[in-house]
Amino acid sequence: MILVESPKHLAAYAGCAFVPTMGALHQGHASLVKRARESGKPTVVSIFVNPTQFGPTEDLDRYPRTLDADLALLESLGTAAAYCPPIDALYPEGIAASMQVASALALPAVATEPRLEDLCRPSHFAGVALVVGRLFDQVRPASAYFGEKDYQQLRLVEDFVATERERFGALEIVRCPTLRESDGLAMSSRNRFLSAPSRAAALALSRALRATHMAFRPADAERMMRDELTKSGLAIEYAVVRDANTLLEVQTFEAPTRVLIAARCEAVRLIDNVAMPARDPTKSKCPFAALFGFAAPSE
Ligand code: PAF
Repeated sequence: MILVESPKHLAAYAGCAFVPTMGALHQGHASLVKRARESGKPTVVSIFVNPTQFGPTEDLDRYPRTLDADLALLESLGTAAAYCPPIDALYPEGIAASMQVASALALPAVATEPRLEDLCRPSHFAGVALVVGRLFDQVRPASAYFGEKDYQQLRLVEDFVATERERFGALEIVRCPTLRESDGLAMSSRNRFLSAPSRAAALALSRALRATHMAFRPADAERMMRDELTKSGLAIEYAVVRDANTLLEVQTFEAPTRVLIAARCEAVRLIDNVAMPARDPTKSKCPFAALFGFAAPSE
């Protein structure tokens, strides 16, 4: 595996399969890399803790940095190149000026209208769009791999790329399923901050998501989730059922929906979501319980 620090040395990888990350890699990231490797193209993984997507009160300094372990994992997965740029390779104008550039971006509606992450983390998606766009410009991949765990981010990237075809060409955004621990907790770089009691309480997220398969209306599902999360002492930011594409509110399950949660477990902010297939409203029984599965954790 080649370690690349300057965008000048990326030319050889144009047309690659690309996995952008902020490091602190876990098996969820490994599954993205494995999926990228299946494309048969050289796989490039970026590791860059992006300051423009952290709000002033968020955990940029505390964000885990585990570069040696990350590089060893990427090497073992057969990654062709790890791109670890210094800050000025992505933000030559400096952080303050790049924040201004980010705030002037025209973001797709899915990143500004749902009042989910966009409400809880107001400048977050501008920073994500800025860095992802610049990484794509530098790496020039044929395909890029994003986890469904950050579902609103995934939808933002899909729409952002679709509206900037001249800039990004035929770049394909590939959705990859959320990986879970055997007890259901979605894998996340932030899980390492959970104390043992918080780790146990955090299971309420996946339990709450699972419970919604019994609901007949989105409003019932939302109530069930709030009950489950509150019972476990989590502070809810949102626990909602939304249209799977627009992430706007829905009144029925007749079209595909996404069930999404953000909650704080002590100081740790956790997010999770699952897909809810469209349901025929004339059927009295809930037909998708069996489909409401979680991806198996990797071996
Ligand atoms: O999902 C992440 O790890 C980050 O938001 C991303 C896409 C690498 C941009 O910094």
